[in-house]
Amino acid sequence: MGIQEVLSTFVHGVYIIGAKEGDNINGMTAAWVCQCSFSPKMVAVAIAPERFTYELIERSGKFSVSLLRDGQIELAKRFGEVSGRDKNKFSDVDYSLIEDVPVLTDCLCWVVCEVDGRLKSGDHYIITGRVLKSKQVRLGSPLIFRWEDYF
Ligand SMILES: Cc1cc2nc3c(=O)[nH]c(=O)nc-3n(C[C@H](O)[C@H](O)[C@H](O)COP(=O)(O)O)c2cc1C
Repeated sequence: MGIQEVLSTFVHGVYIIGAKEGDNINGMTAAWVCQCSFSPKMVAVAIAPERFTYELIERSGKFSVSLLRDGQIELAKRFGEVSGRDKNKFSDVDYSLIEDVPVLTDCLCWVVCEVDGRLKSGDHYIITGRVLKSKQVRLGSPLIFRWEDYF
């Protein structure tokens, strides 16, 4: 088994990273997301610099993380297979603006963060954010992503 095959057995939740700058409202699917501090409460997301979402986070200094529930595979694909540069991915998806950042109406929970740090990590950047607001939207099982498949 090669290194990538081994790493592909890691198990991830599936999240939508939301960002807004001016009139541009966008989101992207992300699996590389985790809490990274208890006090203050912080999360880390690994985002490739070519993502439109990365650009919007750089410009606005804020982002959101909405956790998908099981059954939301189509949403994961919608936000993860096309760039917001080419399509308004939120055009027929319900969302609210919290601290001027989009969060999904239908998800398990969300947090809205203010960017704290940015670390180059190979072909991605790890962006850390302090949680400004958070909400548990509903109870349920999360969508799981592993080895290019959803569970
Ligand atoms: C299940 C899944 C997980 C993903 N995880 C990440 C991730 O953690 N980081 C990342 O930079 N891209 C990730 N992507 C790819 C982006 O979602 C994808 O490139 C997206 O089209 C970027 O959109 P944007 O250009 O509108 O920001 C993932 C895609 C899928 C389908």
